[in-house]
Amino acid sequence: MDNVLIIGAGAAGSVTAQKCAMNRDVFKKIHLASRRIASCEAVAKRCKTPIDISQVDADDVSATVKLIKKVKPDLLINMALPYQDLPIMDACLEAGVHYMDTANYEPRDEAKFTYKWQWPYHKKYKDAGIMAVLGCGFDPGQSNIYCAYAQEFLLDEIETIDIIDCNAGSHGKSFATNFNPEINLREVTQRGKYWKDGKWIEIDPLTISCMIDYPEVGPVKSYLIYHEEEESLVKHIKGLKQIRFWMTFSDNYIKHLDVLQSVGMTRIDPVMYKGNPVIPMEFLKELLPAPSSLGKGYTGKTSIGCIVRGKKGGKNKIYLIYNVCDHTHCYKETGAQAVSYTTGVPPVVGAMMMFKGHWQGKGVFNVEQLPSKPFMDEIGKQGLPWHVKEIKTADQADLFKVRT
Ligand SMILES: NC(=O)c1ccc[n+]([C@@H]2O[C@H](COP(=O)([O-])OP(=O)(O)OC[C@H]3O[C@@H](n4cnc5c(N)ncnc54)[C@H](OP(=O)(O)O)[C@@H]3O)[C@@H](O)[C@H]2O)c1
Repeated sequence: MDNVLIIGAGAAGSVTAQKCAMNRDVFKKIHLASRRIASCEAVAKRCKTPIDISQVDADDVSATVKLIKKVKPDLLINMALPYQDLPIMDACLEAGVHYMDTANYEPRDEAKFTYKWQWPYHKKYKDAGIMAVLGCGFDPGQSNIYCAYAQEFLLDEIETIDIIDCNAGSHGKSFATNFNPEINLREVTQRGKYWKDGKWIEIDPLTISCMIDYPEVGPVKSYLIYHEEEESLVKHIKGLKQIRFWMTFSDNYIKHLDVLQSVGMTRIDPVMYKGNPVIPMEFLKELLPAPSSLGKGYTGKTSIGCIVRGKKGGKNKIYLIYNVCDHTHCYKETGAQAVSYTTGVPPVVGAMMMFKGHWQGKGVFNVEQLPSKPFMDEIGKQGLPWHVKEIKTADQADLFKVRT
């Protein structure tokens, strides 16, 4: 296997294509396709070695099948939007090609994280003898793999997981989102949710917060939100009693979000404007800066990891596994800010795992179901080094004090 087709030449897809083009020993053939050919041309110019490009509307299954038949890839990496997951999975099934993505399917009219649409493809993929790897970005993706690694190498049993995601960077804009604005705002405006003692507990959006002390960044206010990897980790981490996901938002971000929400600009249902239906969230996306335009001048770091608590040899242990990424370094290497970089690099390593035979299977898989060690051995070399720190409850006193 050495031939990859990437769909989606946005902020994260640009990083994926560039990184594949830096690893020609593994990726002999690279083809990038997107809705607009101009997006592909801009990415191709940044690549260190030549790649092929095409225009495709991935909502159109037959168009994607035609492209797959022309390119004959071993794997299709979907770096477009969650709306395209199912049409691209259908196209891969029809053409008999492996599939990978970084975010679960969302219908346009329902902002909801759930694998309920993609997991049912398992039998169809299994019968076709092909593999779909879901959620291979950073979170989901690297975060799931940190948990799988902890389950295999650090602890005998994992009792609780806290995924902690901090962007302590500054892009200098009054308001911008670090990945696709529509998808980002749909994520943070939905109800929060966490899993405890066998059941899901729902909360109003952004109503639980605490201070978390992030490596190389320090204490930052973090909000409990629901994130899709919780659903698969609950299923795949044995004996888990609780899982929560925390993300930092600046006061400025929350202030803008409050106003946009209160005036209805984050609505995803159509409203009539001068006789035409307009979806406020889609219109808002057009006004906000594209995530791919944020890299220049972006300073600061992302610090993302998993706090896993459990037992080893009968003793209570807590570990933090994490990565820190510098926006300026990412921009220098790929022209992207660190959120696009941390999303775009893991699928390249996931593709390497498949091409080298470390990740094999027939059906639909979340990344924590696949061997973590070869992935962890490679990801640092590709730009996302990781660290393990044993921590004491007192080191994250605020986090453990939160009543949930
Ligand atoms: N797992 C993680 O850690 C993680 C983190 C952040 C984001 N993500 C996922 O990554 C996605 C991409 O994020 P981003 O920041 O790269 O967003 P982005 O810059 O908006 O890129 C999305 C790209 O998708 C392409 N696209 C949209 N509709 C398409 C269609 N019908 N056919 C073909 N291409 C289409 C667009 O292409 P054109 O430019 O050609 O119009 C656009 O460039 C997010 O929406 C999110 O789901 C995952």
